[in-house]
Amino acid sequence: MNETAAILEVKNLARDVPTKNGPKTIVNDISYNFEKGRIYNIMGPSGAGKSSFLRLINRLDEPTRGQVIFHGENFNQCPACGLRRKIGYLFQTPYLFPGTVRDNLLYAEDKLTEDDIQRLVKQSRIPPGIIDDDVENLSIGEKQRVALARLLAMEPEIILLDEPTSALDPTYTKAIEDLIKCIVKERSLTVIMVTHHPEQALRMGGQALLLVAGRLVETGTADEVVKNPKTEMGRRYRDMEMQ
Ligand SMILES: Nc1ncnc2c1ncn2[C@@H]1O[C@H](COP(=O)(O)OP(=O)(O)OP(=O)(O)O)[C@@H](O)[C@H]1O
Ligand SMILES: [Mg+2]
Repeated sequence: MNETAAILEVKNLARDVPTKNGPKTIVNDISYNFEKGRIYNIMGPSGAGKSSFLRLINRLDEPTRGQVIFHGENFNQCPACGLRRKIGYLFQTPYLFPGTVRDNLLYAEDKLTEDDIQRLVKQSRIPPGIIDDDVENLSIGEKQRVALARLLAMEPEIILLDEPTSALDPTYTKAIEDLIKCIVKERSLTVIMVTHHPEQALRMGGQALLLVAGRLVETGTADEVVKNPKTEMGRRYRDMEMQ
């Protein structure tokens, strides 16, 4: 596989869920290639299927139709737990285990040396003085950075972020955004991030995918999709969100 080949490919990906009115397609026939070392912003109105799409990528949910192909291999053939180390997922609100920051990092990877821990803490902008503090006492912004450090401890190739800053105030939001951009550069990570805010997609840069009613309706650079959409749906979303 050459450098520009897709690290992750979704092909005709779809998920139906049962409802009292019969099955509903919440992710509808999405095909797309994600490349290594890039940022992808998943945008769209509430209920568009952004979280559902993200969950299919690391098998938090199983697709009804279609495929997810990771490094050229159909993901159904990869064991889910191994896959989840390579394709990490950061939840909207930080989800940590009881114990200290250090415990949380070691829980993710018990072979971490003291040097590894110091490096992760530094890279995730965690104040060094809190390594042995109970995570229960940390601020939400600190917790989100610990959650990110724990994810990085597993050395993922792709990280999936579902509105990672929605619970944070603007200062922490900017810090997490900068941190993610830095990590993408340092580690050549692929980031797929759901965002509710077109301004955030512009700040993150990279590519954007616009979902409406489960379908992928527009793709391009974040700048193009936000400011200069090619489709009627894209223009409607811009006019609704950017007024
Ligand atoms: N397990 C489920 N059963 C029934 N409906 C579901 C299920 N999961 C999601 N949905 C529906 O699928 C649609 C897409 O949901 P999803 O959470 O992916 O949207 P979203 O784009 O992430 O929205 P938001 O921006 O509000 O987070 C919604 O209408 C939701 O109610
Ligand atoms: Mg969502």
